[in-house]
Amino acid sequence: MRDRRDLPKDFSWGVSTAAYQVEGAVGEDGRGPSIWDEFVARPGAVRDGHTGEFACDHYHRYAEDVALMRGLGLDGYRFSIAWPRIQPAGSGPANPAGLDFYERLVDALLAVGITPLPTLFHWDLPQALEDGGGWLARDTAYRFAEYAEIVAERLGDRVPAWITFNEPFVHMVYGYALGIHAPGRTLMLDALPVAHHQLLGHGLAAAVLRERGAQVMIANNLSPVWPASQEPADVAAAAAYDALHNRLFTDPLLLGRYPDLSAYGVAPDLGGCVRPGDLELIAGPGLDGLGVNYYNPTRIAAPTEPGGLPFAEAAIEGVPRTAFGWPVVPDGLRELLVGLRDRYGDALPPITITENGCSVADEPGPGGTVLDQPRIDYLAGHLDALAAAVAEGVDVRGYFTWSLLDNFEWAEGYEQRFGLVHVDFTTQRRTPKASYAWYRDLIGAHRVRH
Ligand code: NOJ
Repeated sequence: MRDRRDLPKDFSWGVSTAAYQVEGAVGEDGRGPSIWDEFVARPGAVRDGHTGEFACDHYHRYAEDVALMRGLGLDGYRFSIAWPRIQPAGSGPANPAGLDFYERLVDALLAVGITPLPTLFHWDLPQALEDGGGWLARDTAYRFAEYAEIVAERLGDRVPAWITFNEPFVHMVYGYALGIHAPGRTLMLDALPVAHHQLLGHGLAAAVLRERGAQVMIANNLSPVWPASQEPADVAAAAAYDALHNRLFTDPLLLGRYPDLSAYGVAPDLGGCVRPGDLELIAGPGLDGLGVNYYNPTRIAAPTEPGGLPFAEAAIEGVPRTAFGWPVVPDGLRELLVGLRDRYGDALPPITITENGCSVADEPGPGGTVLDQPRIDYLAGHLDALAAAVAEGVDVRGYFTWSLLDNFEWAEGYEQRFGLVHVDFTTQRRTPKASYAWYRDLIGAHRVRH
C-alpha cells in the first residue's frame, strides 16, 4: 500500500473552519441574527448553555490565526461567510462592514500565499429567512443566489473557487428532521424539501459564480455504508440509508436525477417540490470539484420496529473511538473514495477532502504543551488511506483538516475539541498542539520531496 509520502506534487494542504463556530462578534458591524443565535438561546438546546457569542473571537483575531496558518505552511484555508453579516435580514442591500471583514481576511491570506476557499452556507441562515420558512421555502434558494452574487461581486477577483453548501444532509437531518441543530424543527421525512431547496440554491448560485469565471464546489459529508450482515433485510436497509445520506445529495449533482427513495414511501418529485427544469439547474455543466467531509463509516441494520424509518443504525465494534465516541476507521476513507469513482465514473469531478479530523479531550499539560497523539494517529491513518485511494486511481487534489482551532461544536458547545491549536475560551489564548507541529512537518516534507 502507498502512504502519505506518495501524494502528488501539486496536492493542496489546508485547514477548515466555519463562521459561527469561530468568529464570535455576533452583534458587531451590522450583523443580523441567524438561526443559531436564536437556537442557542433555547434552554437545553446546547450542552452547558454554550453559545457562539464569542467563540474563538476570530472576527478580531483573524490576523493571529492567519499567522498560525502561515506557520503550518498551508496552501489553502477553507472558512465560511456568514450570510447575516452580508445581508442582515437575508435579502436586500449588502452590509458593507460585513463584506469588509471578509475582504480583510482574504487579503491577509493572499498576502502570505494562502488561497482562500470560502463556503457560502455553513448553517447560519439569517433568522428573517427562517421566519419565512427557511429551507422549506423555495424562495430561500433564490435569496441564496442573490447573496452569492453580492459576495462574488466584492471578492470574485481574489477567490478562484467557492463552496456553495456545507453538508446539506446534516443541515436537513439535524436542523429540520430531528431538531438537534438550528432551526430545531422535528419534521422527520417532511424535511425532504430542505434537500431540494439547498440543491436548487446551489444550482442557481453556481450559475452566478460561473458567469464570473469562478470554480464551483460543494462539500458533502459522505460515509461508506456497511450492512450489519449479509442478510437481505440488512442489505436492503443499508441501500436505503445510502440513498438518503449519500446519493440524495450527490446523484442530482452528478447524474441529474434523484435516487429511488421508495423505501421511505417518497415519490420521485420529493413530495411535489421538484419542478420541471430544477434538476438541469442543479446538475448544470457539472461541478469543478466535489468536496468530501469524511469522519467515519455507518453500519446499518434492518429496522427493529415496523412503520418507522426503513433502517436502524448499528454500532461499529472493535475499533478505537474519538472523544466524541465516533468510530475511527481510516480505511473507510479509501473505501469511500474508490466507491465514489466506481459509482460515478467519468461523471465524478476531482475530489478535495474538505474536512477530516477528530475530537480529543486535550488540555495543556505541564509546561503548556498539548500532546494530542490520538489526533496525530487519526490524521496519519486517514492520509495513508487517502494515498491508497490515489494509488488506486482516484483524483484527489487536496486535504483540509477539521479544524485549525478548537471551536463551537454546535449542540456540543465547546466540549469537543477538534483543533490543531488549543483555545482557552476564557483568555482566548491559542496554543499549538503536538498535531500542529506534526502537520507542519508533514507539509514541509511533502514540499522537500517535490
Ligand atoms: C462537520 C461540520 O461541517 C463542522 O461544522 C463540524 O464541526 C465537524 N463536522 C465536526 O463535527
